[in-house]
Amino acid sequence: MKLHLEIWRQAGPYSEGHFESINVDDAVSQMSVLELLDHVNNGLIEEGKEPFAFASDCREGICGTCGLMVNGRPHGLEKNQPACQQRLVNVADGSTLKIEPFRSAAFPVIKDMIVDRSALDRVMQQGGYVSINAGTAPDADTLHMDHKTAEFALDHAACIGCGACVAACPNGAAHLFTGAKLVHLSLMPLGKEERGRRARDMVDQLETTFGHCSLYGECADVCPAGIPLTAVAAINKERARAFFSNKDH
Ligand code: FES
Repeated sequence: MKLHLEIWRQAGPYSEGHFESINVDDAVSQMSVLELLDHVNNGLIEEGKEPFAFASDCREGICGTCGLMVNGRPHGLEKNQPACQQRLVNVADGSTLKIEPFRSAAFPVIKDMIVDRSALDRVMQQGGYVSINAGTAPDADTLHMDHKTAEFALDHAACIGCGACVAACPNGAAHLFTGAKLVHLSLMPLGKEERGRRARDMVDQLETTFGHCSLYGECADVCPAGIPLTAVAAINKERARAFFSNKDH
């Protein structure tokens, strides 16, 4: 398969970037977007040229490290798949693919397709954890949690923190990400202990860096973990609960 690629090249955070044109004559439909970039980079290295920088780790849809835009869409053309799982099966021979970094003011470009997503880490540092002394690991059978609630919490724990929701949102909001964390932790027996403080601190941090949510829904459309748009409602629900209870839990 022949492809025309326009790939973002940017030397560093303060350099001007530009698209570089590359023609590939031997792409195959089973390739992922990242494997296509590997293939391009192998060719560049053989020619003594600098390869494109992009991030990946597990390449199994688990870690959230990969992330780039393909034809203006976070991760790629398929819905709800991370870049490492996006194959070229639906890309027609002769197509043009424009590959560039996640575009968001909260994610400054470090180099080529690599962006700094530590703004999401700062939200997590405000409360995306359980800090009480829980003693030794309890027997799972002794936890008072029904199966339906556990499944609901784990569905939201599936967020891999890739930041595609932010890149997809016209406002640059991270409400789907933060909502997923708040839902997950507020439902877990130990997470309930710090529920109020967590909601206040995480939402305060969210609002210092990211845009507001207008419920466009693009975030849920691209989320590789399939976090539902209803997670966004947890932001207001948890904050209102924390405000009226005025307690840490
Ligand atoms: S590389 Fe881990 S989710 Fe894509």
